[in-house]
Amino acid sequence: MPELIVVPEPDEAGELVASKVVALVQNNPGSVLGVATGTTPLVVYRALRRHFEAGVDFSKVRAFALDEYVGLPAGHPESYASVIDREVRQGLGIPAAQVHVPDGDPAGLDNAGQRFEDAIAQAGGVDLQLLGIGATGHIGFNEPGSSLTSLTHVETLAEQTRIDNSRFFDTLADVPHLAVTQGVGTIMRARELVLLAFGQAKAQIVARALEGPISEDVPASALQMHPHLTVVLDEGAASQLKR
Ligand code: GLP
Repeated sequence: MPELIVVPEPDEAGELVASKVVALVQNNPGSVLGVATGTTPLVVYRALRRHFEAGVDFSKVRAFALDEYVGLPAGHPESYASVIDREVRQGLGIPAAQVHVPDGDPAGLDNAGQRFEDAIAQAGGVDLQLLGIGATGHIGFNEPGSSLTSLTHVETLAEQTRIDNSRFFDTLADVPHLAVTQGVGTIMRARELVLLAFGQAKAQIVARALEGPISEDVPASALQMHPHLTVVLDEGAASQLKR
């Protein structure tokens, strides 16, 4: 059973999860963090920046992103490499060479997954992986139907995901159709997982992921099998949980 924490406000979730990360980093300055994009984890990154400003040293942390769009030009502000650089790396003083994002360059897709897996293995695996959940039940970009044991691979984005993420782009047509994502199997290898979700709009998928059958139809349902999962929700996102 995961540890489930329901907080009144996302900011509180940010503080709580940031404290967990800080404890990990203070215990082992070279910890390996798995970082997620999307709006949900931004409260965590904001709280972590406050810890950095108060003197916590993140300079030895290694960070691995969950996923990256295929085909965005290098430096595109909505590429996840740019987002992680802006939202996580810069504010915490982590050297750029210690931050890894899957390579979404179409020219290198054949072995992008393997290269990323190798980098994670070389770092000794992920200590703590932050996760959001997509409306489709995706974690990373593992859409319904993805294998629950897959490693980093190229995934076709669900139309719902493209629509949801079009808010970051000028038009829906600008949202890539493909992504390189850690597989559910990669995510499950992290020693500790923290899933965050906020708002009523996430309530149904959160309930299916945590209380429904473990199935490829809801990739996040695999998280039920992880031995060290913490779920942090606000009241809206928790509102359809039965247990
Ligand atoms: C994105 C990311 C996921 C993220 C999800 C939810 O597409 N690939 O890692 O968890 O969608 O995003 P948000 O937190 O903005 O709801």
